[in-house]
Amino acid sequence: MPKVIAITSEKGGVGKSTLAVHLSGALAERGLAVTLIDEDGRVGSSLRWARRREEGLGFPVVEAEEVKPKKLADLDAVVIDTEGRPRRKDLRELAERADLILIPSGVTALELESTRELLDFFEDEDAARRVRVVLTRVPPTGQAADAARDDLREDGWTVCNTMLRTYAAYQKAAELGVLCRDVRDPRAAQAWDDVRRLAREVL
Ligand SMILES: Nc1ncnc2c1ncn2[C@@H]1O[C@H](COP(=O)(O)OP(=O)(O)OP(=O)(O)O)[C@@H](O)[C@H]1O
Ligand SMILES: [Mg+2]
Repeated sequence: MPKVIAITSEKGGVGKSTLAVHLSGALAERGLAVTLIDEDGRVGSSLRWARRREEGLGFPVVEAEEVKPKKLADLDAVVIDTEGRPRRKDLRELAERADLILIPSGVTALELESTRELLDFFEDEDAARRVRVVLTRVPPTGQAADAARDDLREDGWTVCNTMLRTYAAYQKAAELGVLCRDVRDPRAAQAWDDVRRLAREVL
């Protein structure tokens, strides 16, 4: 059975789809069989990202309604991209289905506050052990991200070692319907390197 990796957040626009698409891409690059399930469907979603180019992203991106459980059984990984501000009921369902729940979070005080709310929710659901925070849109300078990571860890939460730093290549990738690896940008390789390292932590 595949490892089911769900990506969710309390706040919208934190980088879920960016993480979902790139994590899937990095796993696929290593030869793993991965499918990305888009449970969002709105403008910035993974599905629209994949449909921007005829050749797609190199791995299947499907709507929740299209999913055939039998077809998923042989995969190595299923990545689930979700909508922002999910309902508690949907989160509960997600917690039941997922082997791993990734919560991307920015490092500002407000973003961390909403991430902590979500962490508390998963703890109440007895799913805290399956949850990991991915710090994302990390500023290129300053100590805010290290401080955020240390604080979360001190409180017992699991935070991925790898952080996704802020790179314009991610935004360009979304606009072009590709991975940041395939964007013409002086820092594209650095952005892709973050993604690959993160993927190694996850699977
Ligand atoms: N590491 C990053 N560096 C620079 N820009 C980023 C990074 N991660 C995400 N972004 C940008 O932030 C914006 C929001 O990202 P994304 O669409 O992935 O968030 P989301 O959580 O999926 O949003 P929604 O809740 O609407 O689904 C996009 O413009 C994206 O390009
Ligand atoms: Mg999204």
